[in-house]
Amino acid sequence: MFVVAKKSIDNGNLDIYVMEYVNSLFLGYLPYIAVTAFFIGVIYHCFVSCKTVRATSTMFLDKDWLIKLGSPMFHFGIILVFFGHVFGLFTPPFIIEWFMPLEVKRMLAIAIGLCAGFFAFIGLSMLAIRKFVSNRVHKTSSFQDYFIVFLILVQITLGLLSTYTTTKGTLDEYLAFDYWVQGIVWFEPNVWKYIVEADVIYKLHIVNGFFIFMIFPYTKLMHMIKAPFLYMIRPNQTYKSESISGKL
Ligand code: HEM
Repeated sequence: MFVVAKKSIDNGNLDIYVMEYVNSLFLGYLPYIAVTAFFIGVIYHCFVSCKTVRATSTMFLDKDWLIKLGSPMFHFGIILVFFGHVFGLFTPPFIIEWFMPLEVKRMLAIAIGLCAGFFAFIGLSMLAIRKFVSNRVHKTSSFQDYFIVFLILVQITLGLLSTYTTTKGTLDEYLAFDYWVQGIVWFEPNVWKYIVEADVIYKLHIVNGFFIFMIFPYTKLMHMIKAPFLYMIRPNQTYKSESISGKL
């Protein structure tokens, strides 16, 4: 590596060397750094520090139409986007081909991805607007709340722009992301080269995505992992309807 770098710099190819270094750092090594930071954070949070994680509901502060419509729209859209990423990026193309041609998969990913991303974007925008227009919600929101909403809004916007870029690209350019993700999973060195020519929008989306991964365990986003986990292990709770408890 050092010899190659020195040769490139000696030949006056400093720009090329810097670009290669940046690409390999963000597309080759960052995924491992981010996933490791994510798991260490989650394990520490769940088993060592045992901190309570709350994504405190603000519905009791102001039960307006922005949250009633925005929250289900955002959650529906983002859950669909999540499963789209998992199935789309991690399923090897030869398995997809048992069910449908790869071009059909690309069309489906674009159509479903754009609809889901659009829902998530509109829903989260409504929740973001509510943070400013509702006085009580505004006063109880911390800097972290605004920062997370901002990061996810940026991420969804970059994702939608990436999918829009996919509509103009070729099938091979689209599949390059699947090969890249699967190469990362199998610890293949230099796998970043598959997507080195990709549009910068994709790269910004990926880097911001891994940044979200890294800070995830230290934010309210942890409720996504902790809430279902705690739900499964907590003792049963009995609820009584008002009419029954009134009679007792
Ligand atoms: C860090 C890992 C991530 C990678 C490698 C990744 C990769 C991608 C790629 C390649 C696309 C374009 C798909 C296409 O052309 O059809 C895309 C789209 C998108 N991404 Fe991500 N993404 C990541 C994380 C995230 C996160 C954390 C979010 C949301 C918070 C997100 C939201 C979206 C959205 C809304 C779209 C557009 C709709 C869709 O195609 O699903 N991504 N992503």
